[in-house]
Amino acid sequence: MLYRTLGRTGQKVSLLSYGSGGPSQFGARTGVDRAGRRRLIRRMLDLGVNLFDTAEGYGNSEEWLGDALQGADRDSYLIATKWGPPGTFRVGDEDNFTGLAESFERSLRRLKTDYIDVMQFHGVNMTTYGAAVDRYYPILKGLQEQGKLRFIGATFQLKAEPRHETAVHALRSDPDLWDTIMLKYGFLNQWAAKEVFPLAIEHGVGVLNMAAVRISLTRPQRSREVVARWKEEGLIGPDDLPDDGPFDWLIGDDADSVISAGYKFGADHPAVSTVITGTSSIEHFEANARSLEKPSLPREHHERLVRLFGDSAEPD
Ligand SMILES: NC(=O)c1ccc[n+]([C@@H]2O[C@H](COP(=O)([O-])OP(=O)(O)OC[C@H]3O[C@@H](n4cnc5c(N)ncnc54)[C@H](OP(=O)(O)O)[C@@H]3O)[C@@H](O)[C@H]2O)c1
Repeated sequence: MLYRTLGRTGQKVSLLSYGSGGPSQFGARTGVDRAGRRRLIRRMLDLGVNLFDTAEGYGNSEEWLGDALQGADRDSYLIATKWGPPGTFRVGDEDNFTGLAESFERSLRRLKTDYIDVMQFHGVNMTTYGAAVDRYYPILKGLQEQGKLRFIGATFQLKAEPRHETAVHALRSDPDLWDTIMLKYGFLNQWAAKEVFPLAIEHGVGVLNMAAVRISLTRPQRSREVVARWKEEGLIGPDDLPDDGPFDWLIGDDADSVISAGYKFGADHPAVSTVITGTSSIEHFEANARSLEKPSLPREHHERLVRLFGDSAEPD
């Protein structure tokens, strides 16, 4: 496993980390039971993963993660969690907003720990950003002072903001507030490389790359649909890519699948501290870990992806 520094936190984090949300939700949607979850996390720990991402809004994921991590030395890994269930983090939603401190305590209990490494505002957007900073950030600072929280971060909306407007705003206006940010960067969504990543490097903000392959690169039918749509909209030429298996040219000695190429691309930017995989399968996890043993694509493949999709912002 390779390790990178998580921005100004100075923490060494595994290049491949684990996220218990996404389409698989820690196996809740793929039929993994408790024993399977424990085996999955154990295998990840054995292979050197030391950052685990979760959220109060991901079903039972905090509780399941706390359970599966039992027995591992708490100082050997970082837990990142979030406040503000997806879709409910709205200005005016007082019940939700006032719930931050209580939610934090619940997270500690569910995760069976007495501190959180990274607490993130979940899915902040331009409407909620001001409230997060003015009203809720001080609560997290208070928790930090009590020794219950180490670092503060924000995650941004996957579908509503594929061009990361709020992340750009956050890093332009308040770079000192954010130890980490989480957003999507992949070969079908390279937008973060334009402005967010240079700002993150400039200000020492750690970047957790979420959803590098997600749906568009893991479901062949979805890949075909995306490419067909782009051809129709003139974003790429009719002969730029084949209609079937449009990304199969990426498969070769360096990447044994399109998914492998997707994770490699997601890791191959100096701003990215870690790529979070949301897999619920040990076999998939092992394949993804192998992919990031050498986190780069052949130069000509990388350049072709940038030429084709440098302006792309495919949300899923
Ligand atoms: N706004 C936010 O805060 C936000 C939004 C999105 C995600 N996140 C975080 O980022 C994490 C990662 O996002 P994600 O789960 O969308 O990421 P992802 O790793 O890009 O996608 C996960 C999907 O890819 C599949 N997959 C992964 N490796 C595979 C392989 N080798 N072969 C076949 N299929 C494979 C998984 O299915 P299998 O389970 O079958 O492998 C799952 O359906 C989430 O879990 C969450 O912690 C945060």
